[in-house]
Amino acid sequence: MRLTESIPLIHSSQHTSQTHLAKQDAVPSYAQLFDLFLDPMVSTQLKQQQSTLFLKQQLQQIHFNEQSLPQDIHQIGNFLTTQHDQNCQLFQQYLERRQQGGTREYFYSPSAAYDFLIKVAPVKRVDGSWLYSTTQYAEHPHLHDLILIYLEELGLGSAQANHVCMYNQLLEQLKLSKFVDLLEDAYFYQPAIQLALAYAGQDMLPEIIGFNLGYEQLPLHLLISNYELRELGIDPQYFNVHITIDNAESGHASSALDALYRLAPFYPADEFIERVRKGYALNDCGISSTEVINNIDLKALTLKVMQNKALVGQSIHSDRCQFKGRSINQWLSHPDDVAEFLDLLIEKNWIKLNQDPTESRFWNMIQSADGKMFGVFSSAERQIIYDWISNPAQDPQYAPTSKIKTAISVRSQHSSPPDHLKHFSNLKDQLDIDQLNTQLNQADSYSEKVNILHPYLAPHMHHQTLGLWATRKYTQLLFPQELNTTF
Ligand SMILES: [Fe+2]
Ligand SMILES: [Fe+2]
Repeated sequence: MRLTESIPLIHSSQHTSQTHLAKQDAVPSYAQLFDLFLDPMVSTQLKQQQSTLFLKQQLQQIHFNEQSLPQDIHQIGNFLTTQHDQNCQLFQQYLERRQQGGTREYFYSPSAAYDFLIKVAPVKRVDGSWLYSTTQYAEHPHLHDLILIYLEELGLGSAQANHVCMYNQLLEQLKLSKFVDLLEDAYFYQPAIQLALAYAGQDMLPEIIGFNLGYEQLPLHLLISNYELRELGIDPQYFNVHITIDNAESGHASSALDALYRLAPFYPADEFIERVRKGYALNDCGISSTEVINNIDLKALTLKVMQNKALVGQSIHSDRCQFKGRSINQWLSHPDDVAEFLDLLIEKNWIKLNQDPTESRFWNMIQSADGKMFGVFSSAERQIIYDWISNPAQDPQYAPTSKIKTAISVRSQHSSPPDHLKHFSNLKDQLDIDQLNTQLNQADSYSEKVNILHPYLAPHMHHQTLGLWATRKYTQLLFPQELNTTF
């Protein structure tokens, strides 16, 4: 029996976006694809079409190399265990270096960690998405390993445990969310792949299994990031949960392997392994976490802080102070000029790089209570500017938490809407939940209930109130033993 013959495709399409349809012939950027897959107004049908086009093109470009998954399916378990053991060994060596007084190797300052957290945000915001399509095949027990991995990525419907909610909350706490919108297209390549897999469905199950196999392994960068974020006082919970939940013994890494062996008999052996290997290789598309860490760039991040501020600052400065014959307002009115303006501040000694920032006039203007620009920059933005000026990469003794304590370890007071708006949004959520619940209660069969809930588990929905509720209902339907509370 081929899996494709046994399961009908479910289409939950309701809307089509004219904008996206109009652009169908043009080659979309990765960020456009990312937006399209996450747009609630775009039909599932169009997302599926885009997914097929994009993945077909990506898979054609894959060439196997020595890092590729073995061709012999029986070697795969060993191959992954060897990688896992190597990573654990390398982490032990890292710990020894640190215990012997070695400095942090990834994040030399809080802002270096911020740069990393911003650049990996697009991929973290679609965590687990490559498995979404499996949730429509609830009646097929061979897919239950994959479905359960997806549901666990979704925290089984608990906001505290939903990986996307956790990451969004982390960015909000640190007030970094706005910088994600300024990222270059390349950072959307890997998440676009993951979202395309979300809508690829039954036709791409071997590729999804292969991708999942690669993604659910424990990488070295996760272990070190988790360690250094904690050291910097940045909440590492998102990273820590992936160390525990993706473990090779009983976690996602092991379930991913079980899924591979369970699905293999449904396909001709050679075709299956070839497609699994290609899916595995899709993990390498785009910028890896290690590359992000190696390319941390505080000057570029500071520039973004200033360009952002320029949008509001361009009309509030007086014309009295001139640089190269132009007022500050004039410099700030064109985002492209801000880099030159920053260089001018250095040239005029308003910013003294590689020195204690208190020696810099510009720093004192934004940091001192009586400074002319005091309060203009958030604590996270000041931390970025501070770290860029002092350049702690040069200073192994740098103590990051001594100067700007407010930038880190602070829970945001402003992450939720004001109370009166919260009331309306709660009311709307409750109405939506009641409506969905009525629909569910009217459904006669198990598969009908699954079909009703499936669209709410989509990557753009599952982390919202209604999606979380639907995830809990779905989990209750398939894996009641996983939920120890009733709702
Ligand atoms: Fe995850
Ligand atoms: Fe996982």
